[in-house]
Amino acid sequence: MTPRLVRACRKEDVDRTPAWLMRQAGRYLPEYRKVRETHSLLDICADAELTSQVTLQPLERFDLDAAIIFADILLPLVPMGIDLDFVPGRGPVIRNPIRSPSDVAALAPFDPRDHLSPTLEAISSVRAVVAKDAAVIGFAGAPFTLASYLIEGGPTKNFGRVKSFMSNEPAAFLALMTKLREVAGGWLTAQAEAGADALQLFDTWAGWLNPVTYEQQVLAHSRFVFDSLKETSCPTVHFAVGAPHLIELLSRAGSDVLSVDWRLPIDEAWNRFGVDCAIQGNLDPTVLLGSEQHIFEAVTDVMRRVNGRPGHIFNLGHGMLPETPPHAVTIAIDAVRSYEAATA
Ligand code: CP3
Repeated sequence: MTPRLVRACRKEDVDRTPAWLMRQAGRYLPEYRKVRETHSLLDICADAELTSQVTLQPLERFDLDAAIIFADILLPLVPMGIDLDFVPGRGPVIRNPIRSPSDVAALAPFDPRDHLSPTLEAISSVRAVVAKDAAVIGFAGAPFTLASYLIEGGPTKNFGRVKSFMSNEPAAFLALMTKLREVAGGWLTAQAEAGADALQLFDTWAGWLNPVTYEQQVLAHSRFVFDSLKETSCPTVHFAVGAPHLIELLSRAGSDVLSVDWRLPIDEAWNRFGVDCAIQGNLDPTVLLGSEQHIFEAVTDVMRRVNGRPGHIFNLGHGMLPETPPHAVTIAIDAVRSYEAATA
């Protein structure tokens, strides 16, 4: 049986709109916080059993159509020689950031089957237990977003370091993007081989670029990743935040699905695609902090705008906020289902 999310990626008929939520496993769930009391994020990712357990937590509570494997986009940087930590209240911190061409040259190639095997094992064991009509999603960071973390080293408001590295060190920036596209492509291919049904590429920070810079410096590298995934049978999803000005370019990178945030109404975003791919989105995650009626109306608005057009995957426009009450997810998923029941 083909998971309904995979069918929607291909714009085929589905028995119901597939729904999942970015960061559906995470701190808003008490059972996740319980695991985090005794294990760091990197501890969880280094242990196949804990990874599977945390991945499955949201599926035990909610009627979701996909499990996204629990990992982080920054995980593959560790075997490349990067000293990565997640600091509470600060987010990811890299203690040896990329600041020179020699730092780029020192990044080591690695085989994900050797160095990231717990994630791959967890994909296989999660695939074995989730319902046949639900999908297991593998993911990776896109070259530009990984380069941003590597060069900035920590939180940034303006991406000044990565943008100036791009202009001051063009050859080293190109070498870095070339290494990172190989990493993303190889990591996603390994996840497909382990049993992932669909693959999502997160280019979270692409929206901070203007269209000319995106097209000249980034597009070809993300397209390389999607091209390299054609040999897998998995459909692909391309995600960026705050990028309505890039929609047409993002859709030219060659994914099956574009995942859009809430900044444009979903029908307007879809009409801007340069190629006719499927769409994922696009509820504002802060809606889940509101009243039951507010959630119901906002979800219904997304569904009404889609109006049954083939190729819609219901999701948020960005990840779940840690302060989200879990019950809000039940309300949102129920609203998707009741819209469908009312329009069937
Ligand atoms: O349920 C899921 O979606 C799967 C797990 C997942 C995580 N990170 C676990 C995580 C996924 C898909 C990611 C992707 C990721 N990581 C992205 C792209 C998606 C996005 O949100 O734009 C990015 C940019 C990162 C980098 C990252 N990791 C940041 C900025 C942070 C700090 C966030 C914060 O609010 O503290 C992390 C840490 C992280 N990765 C957490 C989780 C659940 C935070 C919780 C914890 O410390 O346990």
